[in-house]
Amino acid sequence: MSTTLIQGGTVISAIGRREADVLIDGESIAAILAPGHAGAYGIVADRVIDATGKYVVPGGVDAHVHMSLPFGGTVSADDFDTGSRAAAWGGVTTIVDFASQTVGLDVRETLAARHVEAEGECHVDYAFHQIIGDVNETSLEAMTHLVEHEGVTSFKMFMAYPGVFYSDDGQILRAMQNASESGALMMMHAENGIAIDVLVAQSLANGDTDPKYHSYTRPEELESEATHRAIKLARVAGNVPLYIVHMSASEALEEVSRAQHMGLNVFAETCPQYLYLSIEDHLAQPGFEGAKWVCSTPLRSKHEHHHKDLWKGLRMNELAVVSTDHCPFCMKDQKELGLGDFSKIPNGMGGVEHRMELIYQGVVMGEMTLERWVETCCTTPARMFGLEKKGVLEPGADADVLVWDPNGTTKIGIDDKHHMAMDHSSYEGFQVDGKVDTVLSRGRVIVENDTYVGAKGHGKFVKRGLNQYLH
Ligand code: URP
Ligand code: ZN
Ligand code: ZN
Ligand code: ZN
Repeated sequence: MSTTLIQGGTVISAIGRREADVLIDGESIAAILAPGHAGAYGIVADRVIDATGKYVVPGGVDAHVHMSLPFGGTVSADDFDTGSRAAAWGGVTTIVDFASQTVGLDVRETLAARHVEAEGECHVDYAFHQIIGDVNETSLEAMTHLVEHEGVTSFKMFMAYPGVFYSDDGQILRAMQNASESGALMMMHAENGIAIDVLVAQSLANGDTDPKYHSYTRPEELESEATHRAIKLARVAGNVPLYIVHMSASEALEEVSRAQHMGLNVFAETCPQYLYLSIEDHLAQPGFEGAKWVCSTPLRSKHEHHHKDLWKGLRMNELAVVSTDHCPFCMKDQKELGLGDFSKIPNGMGGVEHRMELIYQGVVMGEMTLERWVETCCTTPARMFGLEKKGVLEPGADADVLVWDPNGTTKIGIDDKHHMAMDHSSYEGFQVDGKVDTVLSRGRVIVENDTYVGAKGHGKFVKRGLNQYLH
């Protein structure tokens, strides 16, 4: 097996930083060595990567992406091939996508079908959550089976999207009770979809059809109310661990914070779009431009305190994880389905390539430390979802590594850095400090010198264990 030494860099973990060399043997980390000690031990690596002046961090773990997701009459634009390659370009070496059961479908069959779609297509390692959209005896039995035998240990449910993914409170409670028994984690899309549909119908009847009304019809009260309800249901269901996805609003964050202070097993994630983008600067752009930024939960007003509060939540661990909810749709033929009716715009935006870059900007701006960047983007998502060999640089862990150049800069945009299958960029014109230098996936270099050198099919399915905060 071949060995690689990444030398001269500063290794950053969730708990500290030190000058160290990283020795890789085959697909695993073999040792973290004091600078120069490889030579003293007589180790001659087959390959040496010079990381002088650079940070050496675990490969990113994006625990919330949607490749080829059927939604709103179309399918999200990145498939497992293009989307996982874009992830690699962004220093992300593990993605967690979803198998999706909706009404009438068999859970196990939806998971099997997702395996067929992804197998042989991925450039980085991947895992699955299971969406439960039809709770019945068969799907409940299947949930237990997935946890015990399939390495799928988390389930996403929806309080939004009636008629598509929506489950009512009774169905949610039953699924939560099942997860509580098996040790699984429940993920919740927390928005009151029944109330939202009333507001949407009223808005359209008023002639308020532009993209910005997507946010006005999904007010933060309906995110925080659903967050609160999910927390209470989880408590009733034996305090099952609950993970609120794509949190966008201050009030919803307060619900999570309160639950955590009460000792409940409640976790939450946010996404870069909720830290940087807003109604005023993006969703409310003239004409149909704002459709690019239609996603749920929606972008909020920059004149309120959401951005500031979400950064604070990340610092204070009220928000444990940053994911992207990568769900890209092109303007042409996809977002355009909602011309004249915002409710028909497919929900989602793309960002799997930019999470490490955008959250590093939090370090530059003084919103978080380097360690917290690694923790929220690499280590905690791995621990949260039972990816036992991911998210850390330690002997025995998979050799998934990002060498990061803090002196470089990255210009994001359709004619600049952009490898996702989208005809626009959600972050067009963003110029950020820092740059992806070299990326390794299980010991193999996949990005170097601004060149992609990985391969489709290199990425393997990873069976996950249970959440590592509670088990
Ligand atoms: O707008 C979004 N978030 N689209 C993806 C599906 C979901 O709700 O996560
Ligand atoms: Zn079984
Ligand atoms: Zn969602
Ligand atoms: Zn999502």
